[in-house]
Amino acid sequence: MSPDPRAVPADVPRERGREHAGDLAGLFVSFEGGDGVGKSTQVSLLGHHLAALGREVVVTREPGGTPLGLELRQAILHGEDLDPRTEALLYAADRAHHVATLVRPALERGAVVLTDRYLDSSVAYQGTGRGLGADEVERLSLWAARGLLPHVTVLLDLDPAVGLARLTGDPDRLESAGADFHRRTREAFLARAAQDPGRWLVLDAAQPAEVVAAQVRERLAPFLAGAA
Ligand code: TMP
Repeated sequence: MSPDPRAVPADVPRERGREHAGDLAGLFVSFEGGDGVGKSTQVSLLGHHLAALGREVVVTREPGGTPLGLELRQAILHGEDLDPRTEALLYAADRAHHVATLVRPALERGAVVLTDRYLDSSVAYQGTGRGLGADEVERLSLWAARGLLPHVTVLLDLDPAVGLARLTGDPDRLESAGADFHRRTREAFLARAAQDPGRWLVLDAAQPAEVVAAQVRERLAPFLAGAA
């Protein structure tokens, strides 16, 4: 039988808190989706809910969750035109530094880490949107993150035309990438979520924010039961 081309190579350590609870005491949740779907609102609502339960909550984002990440974010979104491979590598550099200096240490001390975007954005935007190939970009991202995957990834799904229309201010390089790019990216997120329902929670982001937030809390409840 030929190997599954989507399989992560055996030499890439694949860590999930669920499978390595002894290694990583915390809970890692990422929020994904197109631009303007309401990720930061959901991250904030969940963060307040978990803090009220007494958990240590680290709210972060990619790109830009660290001081170096902020410089990379500026270069990626507002700097000179980038070749797609350069773009993918800069996102991966942001991720490597973010995981090594902020995400992994927080998980090791038992915090809940909520990130507004993680490696699935690279797979969807650079892998499919930019056409670099989902498998290759996933491999690059897993290498950068030393295999760390979230316990739960929430996909806020919305028609890109609706999401982009919600944005205010001048569009950045990615937001300006065109309707076809954003349609492909949405489809890539949905296809990826369908492949791994154990990790993904797909929600209709056209619903009111409080309804979406309740659905997120329900999914996370088993991870929080019995936790400090
Ligand atoms: P944000 O505005 O949601 O913070 O994200 C910045 C933009 O960067 C957004 O258009 C999505 C894009 N992006 C990628 O293309 N690849 C990635 O790996 C990440 C994290 C974001």
